[in-house]
Amino acid sequence: MRIHVSFLILPFLFLLAGCGGLVSQDTDQRGEIAPILTSEEAFDDQTFAKPQEARVTHIDLDMAMDFDAKTIGGTATLDVLAADEASEIILDSNGLRVSAVTDEAGNALTFDLGETVEGKGEPLTIQLPVQKLERDAELAEGELASTHRIVIEYVSAPGAEALQWLSPEQTAGGEHPFIFSQGQAINNRTWIPTQDSPGIRQTWQATISAPEPLNVVMSGVIQGDPEPEDGNRRDFRFVMNNPVPPYLIAIAAGNIEFRELGPRSGVWAEPEVIESAAQEVGDTEEMIDAGIALFGDYRWGRYDMIILPPAFPYGGMENPVMTFLTPTFIAGDRSNNGLVAHELAHSWSGNLTTYSSWRDGWLNEGVTSYFENRIVEEVYGKERAEQEYALSYAGLVGGIDEVGADNPGTAMRTPDAISPFDTKGFAIYDKGTVFLRTVENIIGREKFDAWLTQWFDSHAFEPVTSEMFLADLRKKLIGDDAELEKRLMLDKWVYGTGLPENAWKADPQAFAEVDGAAAAYANEGTLPNVDAWRDWTAAEQRRFLEELPQDLSDEQLAALDTTLGLSQTGNNEVLFLWLEAALSNEYGPAVPQAERFMATMGRNKFVSPLFTALNETDWGKPIARRIYAETRSSYHAYTRGNVDKTLQYEGSAGTALSD
Ligand code: BES
Ligand code: ZN
Repeated sequence: MRIHVSFLILPFLFLLAGCGGLVSQDTDQRGEIAPILTSEEAFDDQTFAKPQEARVTHIDLDMAMDFDAKTIGGTATLDVLAADEASEIILDSNGLRVSAVTDEAGNALTFDLGETVEGKGEPLTIQLPVQKLERDAELAEGELASTHRIVIEYVSAPGAEALQWLSPEQTAGGEHPFIFSQGQAINNRTWIPTQDSPGIRQTWQATISAPEPLNVVMSGVIQGDPEPEDGNRRDFRFVMNNPVPPYLIAIAAGNIEFRELGPRSGVWAEPEVIESAAQEVGDTEEMIDAGIALFGDYRWGRYDMIILPPAFPYGGMENPVMTFLTPTFIAGDRSNNGLVAHELAHSWSGNLTTYSSWRDGWLNEGVTSYFENRIVEEVYGKERAEQEYALSYAGLVGGIDEVGADNPGTAMRTPDAISPFDTKGFAIYDKGTVFLRTVENIIGREKFDAWLTQWFDSHAFEPVTSEMFLADLRKKLIGDDAELEKRLMLDKWVYGTGLPENAWKADPQAFAEVDGAAAAYANEGTLPNVDAWRDWTAAEQRRFLEELPQDLSDEQLAALDTTLGLSQTGNNEVLFLWLEAALSNEYGPAVPQAERFMATMGRNKFVSPLFTALNETDWGKPIARRIYAETRSSYHAYTRGNVDKTLQYEGSAGTALSD
């Protein structure tokens, strides 16, 4: 069952506009109140919130960054929509230090921070004010509006997992500190006291104070120029008027500058990086056009990006109007730009329509990976798209092979029996892509595209579930065509493990030449022709390295490196595959470079597997430990958590929020 909240606050604003002027209202405007889902499948077991009783509809942050204490503190003013009989609201917290909670007038409200639950944090229960917000007389009976406003005074803990505070040495410029946040999945509760669940959408606004000369960006629209305040600080103001899941609230600050790319897009980066960054993301406007042509309007206004320092633990994060990117994708030839297409595609799949629970990961990431490939096809052509699809397909087959086709972590919808975060990456990203490619090919591209476009459109700014996705597909594309239903195998894809037999295979022609060269190397030891290697696309080079035999001798590795110049490559995806092959074969000469690679970047996708490779041999174990002792403190909590587990790092338990 779904609760429809039909009330829009817009009529109220128009009323205001009639007697005052709407324009100056920009920072105090509450957008549409988004619905929540109440079906069993939509249930999020990672939040303490009880949104059917009371839920947050808007957040207003007024915060100051403290780079010495490594904390952000101030007030969060929350608009709450509560059932008439509700007397309290439950928020999510993880380590927040709450000093006071009041109503708007400053009257104290009772609050309680409950017991900490490992991984989830603690519930913050607040007694709702007796005084309700005034409802506008124009509202019809039964219409819903936010009913209460509460003010929370707090500061984040120094070890807050959402925030990474970088020393100047961790930046390109080396002179100024840097901070960025990573909310997804459930980290934002370490710096924002709200209901941290993807199904509870909220509009927000923020005023953030930061020391000069740092610039602040957020995943909201900046309001005017920063305003100077006391003590060489400046205030930056942001607004997000579309209701978003709170994991999408993001912040970064550093010595960064902006470069315009086109009418809708631009990029932020440190001055040392801005030129190569702007060059690399130069196809962004074209990608936005492709996205719109494929699956409908871009509804967020601007699409800007920030290139973060290499400590950022992910490749990218789709924070609305401000995608966060690792600098490690910059290769000089735009060959890793699938990443940009991916984060942009989330503007539809993930940010516009969002999974209601973490168990539906594929609805965000799988749909986005499919969408990414379609953008790549439009912008870079069919050949490149087919190659990238083939890499994805191989990743899926390899992944299933490794963990077993009956492993519950290979089901796209995470089964109840396992943690929502235990579904394998390849089952979310690659199986999701292959699933949608399969459906596309059975249904026909034209029909499927029209369906997907209306799916985004009719659930814009709303939470969705696997069940809703399948029901809509059945209703609009299958009807009572039993034959078609059988061919599609929808339930098998979404709820079943392993790889359904109707999977749309990668085109064997995509890598015909490379696969031939890989076979020649594996069978006869013949190295590829150097000129051919240089002419290969990055995807082709990656394919060759992925097809290398598992066991390689020092002589073979030395010959591969000297002939193909692997350790010299400017593409980090290629370099990573080389280092992984070298380290898992105990190849000493690669260690210094691996060590530099692992010390200068915190991207989990690169760092974690290299530690795993080292940890698998007696030769590598002490090397891994030596490197980690140096690098651990520079890694993000996410990467640190993964490597801690791999290396069974002592004292790893409970370090997440140590201060
Ligand atoms: N939203 C994800 C990153 C994420 C997922 C963070 C789950 C936390 C929890 C982002 O869009 C993503 O998928 N990034 C990939 C990009 C790649 C698939 C092109 C990455 O960082 O590697
Ligand atoms: Zn993604």
